Amino acid sequence: VEKQRVAIIGAGKVGSVLARALVHQRYRLTGIASRTLTSAEKLAKEFGVVGVTEAADITKSATMIVIATPDRCIREVVEKVAQAGGFRPGQYLLHTSGATSVDVLCSASQQGVFIGSIHPLQSFASTEGDKTSLVESYFAVGGDIQAVSVAEDMVKNFGGHSFTISDQDRPLYHAAACIASNYLVSLMHWSTQIYARFGLSSQQATAALMPLVEGTIRNIKHVGPTSALTGPISRGDDLTIAAHLGNMVNQHDKTLYAQLALYTLGVAVEQGTIDGQQTKRIETILNQTIQEGLL
Ligand SMILES: NC(=O)c1ccc[n+]([C@@H]2O[C@H](COP(=O)([O-])OP(=O)(O)OC[C@H]3O[C@@H](n4cnc5c(N)ncnc54)[C@H](OP(=O)(O)O)[C@@H]3O)[C@@H](O)[C@H]2O)c1
Repeated sequence: VEKQRVAIIGAGKVGSVLARALVHQRYRLTGIASRTLTSAEKLAKEFGVVGVTEAADITKSATMIVIATPDRCIREVVEKVAQAGGFRPGQYLLHTSGATSVDVLCSASQQGVFIGSIHPLQSFASTEGDKTSLVESYFAVGGDIQAVSVAEDMVKNFGGHSFTISDQDRPLYHAAACIASNYLVSLMHWSTQIYARFGLSSQQATAALMPLVEGTIRNIKHVGPTSALTGPISRGDDLTIAAHLGNMVNQHDKTLYAQLALYTLGVAVEQGTIDGQQTKRIETILNQTIQEGLL
């Protein structure tokens, strides 16, 4: 089958990984467009294609266009290409945002373009990202059936898995992804900051905590997020929880700890490892801490 000729708009973290994965799968690139010529040319150079700031210059000759700009720019980028005559009927236009509706691409669909989205449920922290991060990753796809179909083909070529998502479900679907990825990063940031008080560098703290985190993730993978819970809440050790809170200096930290602990208490109850009395004792300590934060 003839592979799509793809124009990529947005030479950032996602645009870079997708470009590498597409070229590896023998898709042809018509070029890379970005806000700055520097970013566009840097990525374009890897594949010997043109780097531009005017997206319409590379979309005309493409059969598929992928937009990987920040969410807030997608609509205006599409409107600009539409005004510049960069779309042709029968092309496919996909954005890579999780939360954004496919509807922001409507100025292209008015010109006969099939619109959709392809959101990798993966975290890309650098523009140097390798295509192998897409293997076995899940992708949420949506939009016109024609666009969904080419997006699914692309995911299959990447060695990933796809599932469809409706526009109305997107914000919460994306919120869940942020909870799992971004807030895990914040928890690790918080945890390593606490170790800095004992003189550990950020690197040392991360190294020390990594086996714990990796072990936890393995447990989640094998037994699921309810049975994977260990620690004082799962054991009903109320005095340990009180000691944690009693040694934190900052009220903001105490409140955040107590809120997360309350959620965790629900997990422990679901796990069935603590009785009603233990639950009540821990709940009282946590609610008291949250109340103090409100004063
Ligand atoms: N990072 C992730 O883990 C991840 C995961 C899944 C989905 N996504 C989605 O993928 C999209 C891109 O995210 P990202 O993390 O790759 O962002 P990013 O690294 O900040 O890259 C965005 C790129 O878009 C370019 N850009 C900004 N405004 C533009 C405009 N008006 N016209 C053309 N290009 C423009 C920037 O160009 P310059 O470099 O030239 O300034 C930048 O290179 C977002 O919709 C995001 O929700 C991200």
